[in-house]
Amino acid sequence: MRLAAACGLGLAVAAGAAAHAQTPVSGEQLYRQRCAACHDGGLAGAPGRDHIARKPQAYIVHTLTDGAMKPQAAGLNPEQVAAVARWLTTRPAAPVRR
Ligand code: HEC
Repeated sequence: MRLAAACGLGLAVAAGAAAHAQTPVSGEQLYRQRCAACHDGGLAGAPGRDHIARKPQAYIVHTLTDGAMKPQAAGLNPEQVAAVARWLTTRPAAPVRR
């Protein structure tokens, strides 16, 4: 019984450390949290993700750091901004239909 409890604790600590070690810089995750509501949701005036995906990464980064999306990207560090821009531009915007 005591052994089992100790093991459980050890696992929890290890999992916590792992989660802490790698700060999540997933462009996809950030996009879903911070951008999708408007850009996937067809909010009036918001261009869709496929539109954004055709832009150069530098343009997206600029829009987020010094352009129209500056308020929406508030709180993101440069690494996160780059990750979102990379994710948006390096994946197919929509399923390819044949
Ligand atoms: C509150 C809704 C909202 C959120 C959240 C939002 N956007 Fe936008 N976004 C807009 C609207 C509306 C426009 C059009 C603004 C304009 O044309 O002035 C826009 C424009 C843009 C553009 C410029 C497109 C172009 O053709 O010039 C980019 C790039 C962009 N958003 C990326 C993002 C990213 C990346 C995020 C997440 C960090 C994000 N947006 C979050 C509503 C939103």
